[in-house]
Amino acid sequence: MIEGSGAFHGTGPTDLVRTEVYLKTLEKMGYHAIALGGDAFNFGTDFIRNQIKTLKTPFLSVSVHQGEAKELLGRPYLIKELGPVKVGILALTAPPPSRNQIQAEGVEISDPLAGIKKYLPAIKREANLIVVLSDLPEEENRSLISEFDDVQVILAARGNIPVENVNHAVIVSPDQKYLARLDLWVDHNGRLLRHDFKWGYLSMDIAPDPAIEQFISQAYGAAGKDRAGQAEARRRFSDQALEQDRDNGYVGAESCRSCHETEYRAWKGTRHSRAFDTLRDVQRHFYPDCISCHTTGFGYPTGFQMGQAVGRLAGVECEVCHGPGRKHTFHPETSQLRRTIPASICLACHDKERTPGLEEQKELFFGRISHKALTQ
Ligand code: HEC
Ligand code: HEC
Ligand code: HEC
Ligand code: HEC
Repeated sequence: MIEGSGAFHGTGPTDLVRTEVYLKTLEKMGYHAIALGGDAFNFGTDFIRNQIKTLKTPFLSVSVHQGEAKELLGRPYLIKELGPVKVGILALTAPPPSRNQIQAEGVEISDPLAGIKKYLPAIKREANLIVVLSDLPEEENRSLISEFDDVQVILAARGNIPVENVNHAVIVSPDQKYLARLDLWVDHNGRLLRHDFKWGYLSMDIAPDPAIEQFISQAYGAAGKDRAGQAEARRRFSDQALEQDRDNGYVGAESCRSCHETEYRAWKGTRHSRAFDTLRDVQRHFYPDCISCHTTGFGYPTGFQMGQAVGRLAGVECEVCHGPGRKHTFHPETSQLRRTIPASICLACHDKERTPGLEEQKELFFGRISHKALTQ
């Protein structure tokens, strides 16, 4: 099991959290190696050094050096014994400007071909099948095969052809969103006889591993509490009187339920009540950018708190539309909530890209969430 590319996607603070969690998950899953692609430096050199130090999974590259002595940042190669076959795995990192490498201070990415030339003899002595993880452009992978006879398999981080035979070898370019499985048949000398390449994707019929699921949920929870994510929050409806009242606050749909059971049940049946589960399903429940429309009161002291994985205010609850209800809950007769909801409230989340036509067909969309209509 090898991570060939895409592990370090993005550059923002939330991407960094996701990357940390992702790498740790690979380790827990028992991955054999992670290639140091050009994007491994997206979060700075210290970040990647730390990961190399703390994770048991080895990081590979023959072309990333550091320090005066120009020693390798990762490991040059890995020998993996699979039954009678010894597989040698090495990774090539493309030098800039081949990719938009950012913040790669303190490291030097040298010519990857010089790297492979240097280590190939040693690998050949130990292994009878050689697999290269390549960050190079498609064309260069093809010439690599012609130049280095011993390379039988290239797992390419870039390229549009999923699987391609070149001479005696095979190049596969797995799409980043999929798990690619490559079965190889080799003879006693390690010569490649046949191969079979399949995509696998994480569909709903693959049950989540409980331990991994728990780890992910804890890690995101802790990260969410830790980071300045809450500060990134864009408060919604801050122009409204109820939201501006500092003595007021959010109480959650369960508190409204005791007096408004009918409305509660109608609301529970809409997707608004499950809006946070939707984010959890796609593992974006710790992204401030997503949370603001899929929860209630995010950014307010009594509103949804980042890092929360379930529970109060996780979803588009009553108080999104009607306003924070603490005062109303204690003094229902005198303290009014928003009774009529203007379409502008809806449009704060249902922008034109997401929900075309809401403004023009107000009745239709209001009808779909109307407590009365849903109760009937
Ligand atoms: C203790 C009981 C109680 C709780 C808890 C309660 N309400 Fe009410 N609510 C009432 C009563 C009683 C009225 C009718 C008030 C009136 O007619 O003046 C009312 C009226 C309303 C109205 C109509 C608008 C208005 O002010 O006339 C809305 C909307 C509403 N409640 C929403 C909520 C929401 C949202 C919550 C939770 C944050 C909530 N209520 C919690 C008792 C309650
Ligand atoms: C805080 C942001 C927010 C506000 C405000 C909001 N919505 Fe939504 N709405 C959502 C989200 C998010 C979903 C999708 C939930 C999901 O599928 O996870 C949604 C879903 C819906 C749906 C599909 C519901 C279903 O059960 O099929 C309708 C209809 C809808 N909203 C109408 C409205 C209307 C009308 C208003 C204003 C009265 C409104 N929304 C206000 C965020 C919001
Ligand atoms: C500006 C408010 C807003 C933001 C920000 C937002 N969403 Fe949504 N999202 C909505 C609304 C509104 C809907 C319902 C659209 C509809 O069906 O009319 C929705 C629906 C969804 C759905 C279910 C419907 C679908 O398209 O499959 C998913 C999944 C989703 N959002 C994920 C996300 C993720 C992930 C992010 C962050 C990258 C995000 N949302 C950020 C408002 C928002
Ligand atoms: C997406 C926005 C939205 C959400 C979420 C929402 N409501 Fe409403 N609610 C409305 C609208 C719009 C009306 C006005 C219905 C009308 O008069 O057409 C309304 C009306 C009401 C009323 C007045 C009685 C009625 O049915 O007209 C009460 C009480 C109420 N809501 C309580 C709640 C409670 C409690 C919740 C949460 C369990 C909730 N609402 C969630 C939009 C919302």
